[in-house]
Amino acid sequence: MLISIVVPTYNEAQNISSIYEDIAGALQGKSWELIVVDDDSPDGTAEAARALAGQHGNVRCIQRTQERGLCSAVHWGVQAAHGRFIVVMDGDRQHDPSLIPSMIDELEKGQDIVSGSRFLSGEPVEGLSSDFRQKLSIYGNKLINLFLGTRLTDPLTGFFATSRTLFLRSIPRMQAEGYKIFFDLIFHNRKAALKELPFRFRARTLGDSKIDIYVFWLLSADMISKLTGGLIPPRLVSFVSVGLIGSTIHFSALYAWMAFGTEFWAAQALATVMAMVFNFTLNNILTYSADRLRRGAFYKGLLLYGFIASFGIVANVSTAQFTYSHFKSHTFLAASVGIVIDVIWRFVVSNRLIWGHSSVLRKAK
Ligand code: GDD
Ligand code: MN
Repeated sequence: MLISIVVPTYNEAQNISSIYEDIAGALQGKSWELIVVDDDSPDGTAEAARALAGQHGNVRCIQRTQERGLCSAVHWGVQAAHGRFIVVMDGDRQHDPSLIPSMIDELEKGQDIVSGSRFLSGEPVEGLSSDFRQKLSIYGNKLINLFLGTRLTDPLTGFFATSRTLFLRSIPRMQAEGYKIFFDLIFHNRKAALKELPFRFRARTLGDSKIDIYVFWLLSADMISKLTGGLIPPRLVSFVSVGLIGSTIHFSALYAWMAFGTEFWAAQALATVMAMVFNFTLNNILTYSADRLRRGAFYKGLLLYGFIASFGIVANVSTAQFTYSHFKSHTFLAASVGIVIDVIWRFVVSNRLIWGHSSVLRKAK
């Protein structure tokens, strides 16, 4: 019986060998393997993992140079695993591997998915760095349980175990984007037998947390996407939401400039540019948080986006005009069709050219 421990990493070079020691200590006498899935961390995590693999036959490293993201990293690890059971845990020592034997026991007793809960013991959680994160986590959990129809004390945990068969079967339906892998697994296995076990979420001593407020934004986008049966991908939900916020900026700016005596065309042009800069910046932070453009790449991206988006405006106006003349001058319908074309165009450009692994700005980063 082999236990495959999948550890996604980004800049965890300092932690990697201690993790091995921690697990080896906790799983003495059991057969297990460690699969580190690293997204080409600049701190050399992959080299550290390979050095470890040179010393121990049960370690492997997958170094991904094209892909990014916690969920898809875990998927890759699971797809490379040999074990009958899969354990997913963080690579920063916040998850205590001494819980793994009890997790496996529960799986052998017939549970389908067993998770480590940070909140079950009732003790305060030292690993949640701020008051704000603690509050976010309490309200977030309530919403998620409502959504999943579960009563989990910790639906956002990153520490859980299940069988390889169940996990592999679920992957084709799961979201590769985002950070909430456990949430996604439960969503696709709501009838599964779930069990939570308490563990102490330790404070991170080395390296930085990559999880931020934008994770909750993307989680909400994911929930809305799931409500549409996955028809609208989470990124598009986020993109359109940013666009809606941007349009309020557009109208406020438009009326403000006009109130100062600017002519309509000039006010409209200024408002368009302002809304575009706003949308670009917010999408860079929220929608494309994992591929965020910084410094020079940000400004290059903004110029390129503005340039290509202007073609969308032409397409928008001409399609709207076409619809307007063919559907007996339905203004609202025509404008909506134009806007939809424009949004899809911008979304495709954003995904293909501006952000992500096919971005033309990748080298400029
Ligand atoms: N491969 C890969 N790619 N690994 C990543 C990436 C990525 O883009 N981003 C983060 N990781 C790795 C980190 O190196 C770490 O091993 C693990 O994923 C979790 O990231 P942390 O940055 O330590 O997250 P956290 O401790 O703030 O968040 C924890 O709590 C969340 C719930 O609030 C984690 O347990 C999350 O999994 C959990 O959802
Ligand atoms: Mn962590």
